[in-house]
Amino acid sequence: MKEKEKQGRPKVYFVGAGPGDPELITVKGQRLIEDADIIIYAGSLVNPELLEGLQAVLVDSSQLSLEKTTELILQALQSGKKVIRLHSGDPSLYGAILEQMQPLEEAGVDVEVVPGVSSLFAASAALRTQLTLKGVSESLIITRPAGTTLEQDDIASLSKHGSTMAIFLGTDKIREVVKSLKLTAETPAAVIYHASWPDQKVLVGNLQNIADQVEQARISRSALILVGGVVGRTGYRRSHLYRDR
Ligand SMILES: C[S@@+](CC[C@H](N)C(=O)[O-])C[C@H]1O[C@@H](n2cnc3c(N)ncnc32)[C@H](O)[C@@H]1O
Repeated sequence: MKEKEKQGRPKVYFVGAGPGDPELITVKGQRLIEDADIIIYAGSLVNPELLEGLQAVLVDSSQLSLEKTTELILQALQSGKKVIRLHSGDPSLYGAILEQMQPLEEAGVDVEVVPGVSSLFAASAALRTQLTLKGVSESLIITRPAGTTLEQDDIASLSKHGSTMAIFLGTDKIREVVKSLKLTAETPAAVIYHASWPDQKVLVGNLQNIADQVEQARISRSALILVGGVVGRTGYRRSHLYRDR
């Protein structure tokens, strides 16, 4: 749709809140939440510190159905309110935003997505590694195990590529996840809980011992599993980017 046609239409922003550290929201995201009248945020995955001191009315979306969320947004826009739908990390990863945006667009609302720092990047930063690393892995697979909202996963077949694997929504099933990976027991693996939050926990090991570590640390949610050589931070080749010129 052309910019001119959008003029005058009510607008809602889907904003990435970042992984937890309140300083990891974008400048645009921060400006929008400071200016908002109502913020519908993604429950416990959004750090309450980010929402402290804002003038907006805060609504936790974990208690709302899709229909209720749509209704709430439409009503608020009709009464001239500035509405923000705040998602954790980056909204494009496991954020289920299309099903929220489309009914709004059908109702004549203009929607803009403001990207955020995914927990994937905060997890990589916590490990002080790269997700793509010359001589180790040039590719990244982002996936999740089967669960209540997914009947079947592709973890076994995807693991055969030898790429770095970032597994979301899977720490409560860590043993099944490890079992389904077609990789050796020595393959480096890490679990990062609450990446970038003050209570961040980083567990590093391999496929042989990572499930034990996770169970001992009693981590079952809000954590990411990273698998592959990049976790080990060794065995890489120098990049041509920084060669002598
Ligand atoms: C519904 S998904 C949302 C992902 C989010 N859109 C993102 O880009 O990070 C929720 C899952 O993301 C992961 N996650 C979210 N925040 C996290 C954090 N701060 N540290 C580690 N994993 C996190 C966990 O696997 C969690 O179960």
